[in-house]
Amino acid sequence: MNILENISLKAYNTFGIDKKAKYFSIAHNLEDLIALLKWAKSYEEKVLILGGGSNILLTQDLNCLVIKIEIMGITLLEETPDEVLIEVGAGVIWHDLVLYTIDQNWGGLENLSLIPGTVGASPMQNIGAYGVEIKEVFENLKAVDRNDFSVRKFESADCNFGYRESIFKHEFKNQFVICSVTFRLRKSPDFKITYGAIQQTLQEKGVNELSLKAISDAVISIRKSKLPDPKEIGNSGSFFKNPTIPNSEFEKLKENYPDIPGYKNEEGTKVPAAWLIEQAGWKGKRFGDVGVHQNQPLVLVNYGNGSGEDIVALSKKIQMSVFDKFQIELSPEVNFL
Ligand code: FAD
Ligand code: EPU
Repeated sequence: MNILENISLKAYNTFGIDKKAKYFSIAHNLEDLIALLKWAKSYEEKVLILGGGSNILLTQDLNCLVIKIEIMGITLLEETPDEVLIEVGAGVIWHDLVLYTIDQNWGGLENLSLIPGTVGASPMQNIGAYGVEIKEVFENLKAVDRNDFSVRKFESADCNFGYRESIFKHEFKNQFVICSVTFRLRKSPDFKITYGAIQQTLQEKGVNELSLKAISDAVISIRKSKLPDPKEIGNSGSFFKNPTIPNSEFEKLKENYPDIPGYKNEEGTKVPAAWLIEQAGWKGKRFGDVGVHQNQPLVLVNYGNGSGEDIVALSKKIQMSVFDKFQIELSPEVNFL
């Protein structure tokens, strides 16, 4: 057990915020993880679990033990003529898993190509993109209870998955460490290409025959054209969730803003936060070292030495101005620490 002290977390979060961890260690397997959790308990230190740091905003030094999860491995548990069940270590890089499954010709994850971060974090907010969320391919997960160090299995119904939501962000917040996730993938393809610009991109690329790889490549090129690469500009993807408002409110807004985009769902109409933020005048605005991205206003960025506090302050101003203009509340997707 190698526990480092006073470590900068700048390289461990995609916003590139320079805050420190009092203690820092890496868990390569379940035994490491349990030993570290026991160490923290015996010294009465708090614990923060870290994957790829692509959905956190550091607003202060962390007076705790940061455990970075690097539990690896992909195990084929079951195979039928139609499906496979694979158990994947929480530390596996999400996009590496996607590419591996495409190589095996196992379908289900292709629309989720190029999402940063780790497999262990994927159930936290039920990651989603291009018309697919992981709940559709999720079978179960194993997690260590931070109180008694037992390993517990969660089936899909136990996780309360919703849009960017799960039980692990609410009732079970900071109670479990996810150590593996099991996915059920298809050997016979079920291509989903109706969302956004996938179909158009496939046409532009001259794809005549659909394949998992062709869809993944199309998603990758759309994402590269829209989202800033955290290696170049610090960011955490969409900073806010897309709000769903009652259909009646949407119709009222449409009278004043005939161009307002909206997508009906079971609860009402989902309005793109990017549109609301752009209309409120924030797109491309820069304030010192932080700002609102010029192509995708839902992404707040750190140009270099911005602080978490600067980003929080900017996000609050955006929330207030969107509320003043549209009476719609934006909720952050990013986890503030
Ligand atoms: P971290 O940021 O390290 O952690 C996130 C949260 O999960 C923290 O609260 C952490 O404590 C907790 N956590 C992490 N690992 C574990 C574990 N093993 N057990 C228990 N708790 C854990 N998200 C989408 O859904 N769709 C997208 O299209 C998308 N696009 C993005 C694009 C960019 C450019 C960026 C930077 C981010 C994007 N995101 C997207 C957000 C992010 O990639 C996901 O939320 C991802 O799952 C975070 O993984 P991570 O390993 O980096 O988690
Ligand atoms: N828009 C504008 N101005 C812009 C850009 C976009 O008005 O400058 C409007 C347009 O109406 C556009 C709409 O916003 O049609 C949607 O934009 P986009 O397709 O870029 O998607 P998004 O709603 O911004 C969501 C997810 C992404 C996910 C993509 C693709 C959320 C909060 N974000 O983004 O997830 O990759 O769809 O499915 O749901 C993330 O969670 O971090 C993330 C990047």
